[in-house]
Parts: sequence; structure tokens; C-alpha cells
Amino acid sequence: MTASPRTPLIAGNWKMMKTRPQAQRFVADLAALCKQGCNTAVEWLICPPFTSLDAVSSVLSQVPCPVKLGAQTMESQPEGAYTGEISAAMLVDANVSYVILGHSERRQYYGETNATVAAKVQAAVAAGLTPILCVGETLEQREGGMTDAVVIEQVTEGLALLQNNKASMTLALAYEPVWAIGTGKTCGAAEANRVCGLIRSTLADVLSPQAAQATRVLYGGSVKPTNSGELFATYGLNKGDIDGALIGGASLVASDFHAIGMSVQVPAACAV
Ligand code: 13P
Repeated sequence: MTASPRTPLIAGNWKMMKTRPQAQRFVADLAALCKQGCNTAVEWLICPPFTSLDAVSSVLSQVPCPVKLGAQTMESQPEGAYTGEISAAMLVDANVSYVILGHSERRQYYGETNATVAAKVQAAVAAGLTPILCVGETLEQREGGMTDAVVIEQVTEGLALLQNNKASMTLALAYEPVWAIGTGKTCGAAEANRVCGLIRSTLADVLSPQAAQATRVLYGGSVKPTNSGELFATYGLNKGDIDGALIGGASLVASDFHAIGMSVQVPAACAV
């Protein structure tokens, strides 16, 4: 494999967790850890609930390494009578640069389909946000031998509305097998890498080979400090197709989140 132009992305998805004081405590703890050592060769991202975006944004400068801010979903419509929803422009206004879209919990509990996800991806890109499009099969689909077909369909349909402006967009994807989320069951590193590679080859077909090489494909599903080394050391940058992690439970504990980011082997001392 040729040298990768991709910067690894270590993203924390806090889901419906943490009040504003708890969120700011996390940032203070992360800042203290990063002052002792920080991997500046990776991009760090925190995706808190909407209510904590501002609280986190206001203290992020305490962390000596740049940490970006992300949201966990958004509405595809630009504005209007959509009670309870948040638009792409509102996220941009809140200093958000990434947005997780099509997470399996959104698909499972809130009826999101590939079509609704595609509209959100299109609206996010149009607003200058970087979507992290989540795809992945259920246990039933895996046991039925449908993993590849499900993933190819979710990628193809999720990106279907991007084809007119594919040259200029930024995008990331996350392979999150539903059966590995919050269960403690990790997808084997080799299999995670295989499916991330399948996502990249689908990107080459749907967008372009250049876009496929430039796009980060993350793995998510019970990533912990104890297994991240294997994921990244064997299949990370320049070695495979895993360009980072989308982390749920372990991203809630600053020391675990920090340790996962440190385990990506593109070391550099942090300029404090
Ligand atoms: P866990 O890391 O808790 O399995 O969650 C993964 C996830 O859903 C990240 O979006």
C-alpha cells in the first residue's frame, strides 16, 4: 500500500451522557493528560450532546493539542417548523466541524433510513461540516452472510445525493457493526480492516478513487485502550484501512480516550 495522505481521527461519541459540568470536567482531565504527553499526529474530536456543545467549546483551548467539536446528528432541512431539531447552520454557529450521521442508534430508535441519512449528509456537506457516516450490520445480518451487501448498500445510498459536488467535499465514514456496540464484543481487527477496505473500495466506485484514498474510514464498536493497539498497530496508517476510531463508552473517561489516541503509532511530542 502507498503512503497514506490521511490523518488518523480519534472521535468520542458521548451519546446521551454528561451534564455541562461533567463535560467541562472531562476536558480539564484531558487537558492535564495532554500536558504530560499528547499525540499531535492524530486529529482529536469530541461529540457531546447538543446541550454541552457550548460548554465544551468554551474550554477546549485548555487542551494543549487541538481538539475539534462534533455533533451526533442534525436535521437535513435548513430551518423551519421542525420542533426539537437542530440545523447544520446552527451547528456551524456552535463551532462544530463534524457531525455523526446515520448512527445505528438513530436508525434503530428514530427510524432513520438510508434516504433520510443521505439528505442529512448532503445538507452537512453543503454547510461545510464533515459528516461521519456510520454503517454496519446487525448480528442477524452478519449471521445471515449479509454483512458486505448491507455495508455496500448503506455507503452507496447514504452518499447518493453527493454525486454533484463530490470533488470538493470532506467526508469520513465509520464501520460500526451493531453487534459490537456497547456489548464488549469487538470485531476482530482483521475483519474490521477487511470491512473498512470494502467501504473504501465502495467509495472509489460511488465517488472516485481519489476521494476513496483521501477519506478516513474509522472503526467503532467496543474500542478500548486494551484493544486499540492491535487495531492501529496492525491495520492503522500505511498498513491497512483503519484510519481511526469512533469510540462510545471509553470516550467518556478522559484517561481511556487519551490512551486510545496515544496508541495510534504516529508519535510526536505535543508542543505545550
Ligand atoms: P462503544 O464504544 O460503547 O461500543 O460505542 C461505539 C459507538 O457506538 C460509537 O459511535
